Amino acid sequence: MKLLWKMAAVVVMLFVMIDFVMAQSQANLINQGCSQVNASFEFFSNLNTTLANLRRQLSVNKTHFATAELPRSSSPVYAIVQCRNYLSIVDCVSCFDIAAVDIRKYCRLVNGARVIYDGCFLRYETNRFYGTANALGNAGKCDNSTIRNGTASATSYNAVVDALLSDLVIATPKTKNLYAATVTEVAPGGNTSVYAMAQCAETVTEIECQNCMNVAYENIKSCPPRTGARAFDAGCFMRYTNTPFFASNQTINISRFLRSGGSSNKKAIIGGMVGGVGFLLLVLALLLRYRLSRKKKITTRGNVLGSTELQGPVTYNYKDLKSATKNFSQEYKLGEGGSGDVYKGIVKNGNMVAVKRLALSTSKAKADFESEVRLISNVHHRNLVRLLGCSRRGPDLLLVYEYMENGSLDSYLYGGKRGTLNWQQRFDIIFGTARGLAYLHEQFHVRIIHRDIKPGNILLDDELQPKIADFGLVRLLPEDQTHLNTKFAGTLGYTAPEYALQGQLSEKVDTYSFGVLLLEIVSGRRCSDTNIESDTDFLLEYAWKLHENDMHLKLVDETLDSDEYKPEEVKKVIEIALMCTQSPASLRPTMSEVVVLLISDRSLVVSLSRPTFVYSEDRIRDGSDNPPASMSNATATLSEFIGR
Ligand SMILES: *[C@@H]1O[C@H](CO)[C@@H](O)[C@H](O)[C@H]1NC(C)=O
Ligand SMILES: *[C@@H]1O[C@H](CO)[C@@H](O)[C@H](O)[C@H]1NC(C)=O
Ligand SMILES: *[C@@H]1O[C@H](CO)[C@@H](O)[C@H](O)[C@H]1NC(C)=O
Repeated sequence: MKLLWKMAAVVVMLFVMIDFVMAQSQANLINQGCSQVNASFEFFSNLNTTLANLRRQLSVNKTHFATAELPRSSSPVYAIVQCRNYLSIVDCVSCFDIAAVDIRKYCRLVNGARVIYDGCFLRYETNRFYGTANALGNAGKCDNSTIRNGTASATSYNAVVDALLSDLVIATPKTKNLYAATVTEVAPGGNTSVYAMAQCAETVTEIECQNCMNVAYENIKSCPPRTGARAFDAGCFMRYTNTPFFASNQTINISRFLRSGGSSNKKAIIGGMVGGVGFLLLVLALLLRYRLSRKKKITTRGNVLGSTELQGPVTYNYKDLKSATKNFSQEYKLGEGGSGDVYKGIVKNGNMVAVKRLALSTSKAKADFESEVRLISNVHHRNLVRLLGCSRRGPDLLLVYEYMENGSLDSYLYGGKRGTLNWQQRFDIIFGTARGLAYLHEQFHVRIIHRDIKPGNILLDDELQPKIADFGLVRLLPEDQTHLNTKFAGTLGYTAPEYALQGQLSEKVDTYSFGVLLLEIVSGRRCSDTNIESDTDFLLEYAWKLHENDMHLKLVDETLDSDEYKPEEVKKVIEIALMCTQSPASLRPTMSEVVVLLISDRSLVVSLSRPTFVYSEDRIRDGSDNPPASMSNATATLSEFIGR
């Protein structure tokens, strides 16, 4: 009898543990966001009522979706919770409970917040947001691991994932609950399957859901052969992976939703039209659609998901920031730059921020500060570091930025974290940086030229996505710091020659720096390092020589595994880098052209025009190298300029 009890206890424990593990993985946080505006006591009292109402609906009505609101209060609250329909009600409620604690923890004191998990999402705002499915800030996240040959070939995995996701895009909006989940074996009898699900908030229309699915698909369609991926948006969620995350009896038969206009039909039509002009036109149309959708994605992706974060800059109290940074202690210092030192700060709501203490106090700077801050705080892009607020009342002018967990790119290229970035991560950093610059140059209503693009100004978030720091401050700097003058040691580094030598400023100055940055990312070397073989060529010059001898791949960082990149792709990236560093500046592409070049599949067939290489006098005197005539000319120009 005793034994039986023990066995029963073990069985119960096992079930509890399985349930616990399930609940834990379902509470894996995908995304969060907080408003910047503090709310009143009344708001939080209303929020508590609203959250309790949501919980009651889930547990008593046994639903997976609920809304609750207190609209007629002077501090109105609107809230939504949604669980993935494959969860049991018990798991759904426990996901909600975790969300309700987290949302208060992550976003204390503010009037809008969201948390998105694998298993559920919870969001509240002070205005009615229920109908919005697509919002700026939508994104996809690919898993880090890649499907290994042996379980299934990457090619067939890619094909199955793509077919499954395309089917979900079509089927999900047509289902009753705007929810679908499916499993497909990659190869019959093999042991690899793809598990995929998609869901829209039940308050959005079928058309809204359809739009949201299209965007979600765009955001993760290039993830395979990564083992899995998730896409999230204000009103929908999509996920695939090769490991089960729902029970096998939770799948939905979606084939009936695909019959009219489904993807299998489309394929049949394509098959029937092979040959002839029709096929050609179709390919062209698809290509155009692809381009347009890529373009759309590039221009519309911001940092916000709906109204949550669309708020102005916050004015911080100097004393608060002083204590948040432990009195600007050395221990909290993150870095130093031309415009001032940066400190880590822990502000009152528990959030981490980065505080920049501007190294200027001229009356002109103080006068410009306010308008500059207002301008910068309106810059919202996923690849630009967000300015949260400022303090101008204390002894120093302070700027408060979002905090980037992983610090700056330089430590990954040649600092302590050297060799940890794989090729895909490097490419993502290159691509994101190009998009951030394109936004500053062409899409923001005021053209902002950064002027100081270098690895130290590229910060990485917790997914190693790049965010450009330190833009828009130039007008606050004293005149003599706005462009370099005589301070270069043998190389101009990241600075375009026409800017360093003649002070000619255009957005192509950033294009040039971007090109140099790109070479550093590919090679893992500083632009000011000379190469090992000849010990005379700086990185850029070395890259040009390799290019002229068609030996691009010699430039690639030796810490990169040659299995993980395609030689053609790396070569193309190097050619884009060289294109960006051409002189005169008019030959360089704009940053939006760079973005298109990076994502297009075509290889570049262009003849490139070498830039002006610049030497310091020391290098010429030591005679270790015989620069070609064109370079000697450049040297002469420089020497005249410096006036040595
Ligand atoms: C709301 O609930 C939280 C957690 O239960 C509690 O800490 C907080 O004091 C409550 N706020 C109000 C205004 O009732
Ligand atoms: C399943 O996949 C593994 C690789 O992870 C492989 O070693 C194994 O042989 C496969 N099993 C079957 C039954 O195909
Ligand atoms: C699915 O299977 C689980 C056991 O694996 C069972 O507890 C549950 O009731 C099933 N659900 C449905 C809808 O059949």
